[in-house]
Amino acid sequence: MKITALSALVFASLAGGAIAQTADQDLIERGKYIATMGDCAACHTQPRGAGKPYAGGYAIASPLGTIWSTNITPSREYGIGTYTEQDFSDAVRKGVLKDGTHLYPAMPYDAYAGITDADMKALYAYFMHGVAPVDEPPAQVTELPFPFNLRFSMAAWNLLYAGGKPFTPDAGLNAQENRGKYIVDTLGHCASCHSPRGLLMGSVSGQYLRGGSVGPWYAPDITGDPVHGIGSWANEEIATYLKTGRVAGKAQAAGPMAEAVEHSFQHMADDDLGAIAAYLKTVNAPATASTPSVASRTDMGQPVDVEPGIRGLFPENAHDSLKTGAELYSGYCASCHQPNGAGSRNQAYPSLFHNSVTGAASATNLIATILYGVDREAGGDHVLMPHFNTGSYVAVLTDQEIADISNFVMETYGNPNAAKVTTADVQVVRDGGPVPFLAKVQPHIPALMATGGVAAVVVLAGVILLVRRRRIA
Ligand code: HEC
Ligand code: HEC
Ligand code: HEC
Repeated sequence: MKITALSALVFASLAGGAIAQTADQDLIERGKYIATMGDCAACHTQPRGAGKPYAGGYAIASPLGTIWSTNITPSREYGIGTYTEQDFSDAVRKGVLKDGTHLYPAMPYDAYAGITDADMKALYAYFMHGVAPVDEPPAQVTELPFPFNLRFSMAAWNLLYAGGKPFTPDAGLNAQENRGKYIVDTLGHCASCHSPRGLLMGSVSGQYLRGGSVGPWYAPDITGDPVHGIGSWANEEIATYLKTGRVAGKAQAAGPMAEAVEHSFQHMADDDLGAIAAYLKTVNAPATASTPSVASRTDMGQPVDVEPGIRGLFPENAHDSLKTGAELYSGYCASCHQPNGAGSRNQAYPSLFHNSVTGAASATNLIATILYGVDREAGGDHVLMPHFNTGSYVAVLTDQEIADISNFVMETYGNPNAAKVTTADVQVVRDGGPVPFLAKVQPHIPALMATGGVAAVVVLAGVILLVRRRRIA
C-alpha cells in the first residue's frame, strides 16, 4: 500500500517534470526559429564554421571604423549569462544595456523593437538554454574615433529613429499579410537594406522598401509596384527566391542578400515565406490591376549573339588582345552565360536578359557581381560565380575593362539607359560603395564641436553608425 502510494507519487512527479520539460523544450525550439528568422547568427557567429555559434567577433565595416559583434552566448563572464529577460529585451529591442550603455545601431534594434513579447520570451529561453556558453571574449573590441566613441550620443539617435513599439496588426491587412508585415518589419529587418537612408541615414519617409544602398550593392525596390518593384512576380516566385536565392528569368541573390538567404530565409517555414510575399505585394500595389505600359526590370533585354561580329578578330585565349566590351564579354563571361546571353539550358548559369540586375536603372549590381562574384549556399546547392577583383583565380580585370563589359552587357541585354558606366563608377564599387555624408565630415567634427555645434554632431553621430552588414574582406 505504502509502496504503491510512493511509486504513484514518484510517477506523478516524473510525469509532471516531463511535461514541464516538453513545454520548455517547445519554447526553446520556438526561440531557435525566431533567432533564425532574426538572422542573429549572421552577425554574432563568424561565417561558415570560422567561430563558435554566437561567440561574436564578426567584423562589420562602418565608414568610421570596424564595429565588432559581441558574445551573446550564456557565458556568465563573457556573454549574456547574467542577463534577466528584461535586460535581454532592452538590449535587443532598445539597444540599451543594463548599465545604461548604448549599443551602436549596427545591431538592428530599431527593427527588433517590433518583436512581440511572446517571441521575446522564446528568444530569451533559447539564448539561455539552447545555446552553448562560450567562455571567451571576441578577439577584438570596437574602438571608434571621437566623438563616435561616446556611446551616449546614440541616445539622441534613438530619439529620432528608434524607439518603436512591439508590432500591432494593421486593420487593413488580413491575417496572412499581417504575419508577413511582422516578419518584414521586425525579424527579417528587410527595410534596413531595402529602404534608402537619407542624409541622416534614418529611413526616408515615403520610401519604405523602395530600394537602398548596402555597401557596394544596391538592394532594389521590393514593393508591389509592378514597374519599379516586384509587383509582376507571382507570390510563389517571391517565396522561391527567398528560399533558394534564385528565380529563373527574374533574379539571383548575391552579396548581402545571398548571406541573408543562406543564414536565415531558406530556413523559414513555407507559410512564413508565403506571408512575406503576400504582404510585399500589398505595399504600393497599383489601384487597378491593369498591365503597366512600361516594362518591369525583369522584362528587359533579349538574346543577342556577340560572336559573329568579333569572330576571327583575335586569337582565342590571348587575353590582352580583348579590347572592346563585346570581346571582353566573349572572353570572360560567354563561357557560362553563353555568347547570346541566354545562360545555360537549366539556368544554373543564368540568362543576362530578363534579369533584375541588368534591367535595373543603374549598373551598380552588375559591377558588384563582376567584382565580388556570387557565393551562396542554399537548398543544398553551392552556387559560385568567380569574381574578377584583385586575387581572382580567373582574371583580374581593370576598372576600364569592367566599365566596358558593363556598358556592353547593359546596352545589349539589359537597360540601355544604364549603359554609361565610367571607371570612376567602378572605383566606387571596388572601394565598398558610396561614402555617406557623415563619414566625409567626420575629420572636421572635433573642430565643429569646439565651435559649439555639439547638439548637431551628437545627432549626426548615431546616424553614420547605422551601417548595413558588410563583410570586410
Ligand atoms: C546586422 C548585425 C547584427 C544582427 C543581425 C544582430 N546583431 Fe546583436 N549586435 C550586433 C553588434 C555589432 C553588437 C555590438 C554593438 C555595440 O558594440 O554597440 C550587438 C550586440 C548585441 C547584444 C548586446 C550584447 C552585449 O552585452 O554586448 C545582444 C543581447 C544582441 N546583440 C542580441 C542579438 C539578437 C538576439 C539578434 C537576433 C534577433 C541579434 N543580436 C542580431 C550586431 C547584430
Ligand atoms: C543585408 C541586406 C539585405 C536584407 C536584410 C534583405 N535584403 Fe533583399 N536584397 C538585398 C540586395 C543587396 C539585393 C540584390 C541582390 C542581387 O541582385 O544579387 C536584394 C534582393 C532582393 C530581392 C530581389 C529583387 C530583385 O528585383 O532582384 C527580393 C525579392 C528581396 N531582396 C527580398 C527581401 C526580403 C523580403 C527581405 C526581408 C525578409 C530582404 N530582402 C532582406 C539586400 C538585403
Ligand atoms: C564560371 C561561370 C561564370 C562566369 C565565367 C561568369 N558568370 Fe556570371 N554567374 C554565374 C553563376 C553561377 C551565377 C549565379 C547564378 C545564381 O545565383 O543562381 C552568375 C550570376 C551572374 C549575374 C547575376 C547576379 C545577381 O546578383 O543577380 C550577372 C549579372 C552575371 N553573372 C554577369 C556576369 C558577367 C558580366 C561575367 C563576365 C565578366 C560573368 N557573369 C562571368 C557564372 C558565371
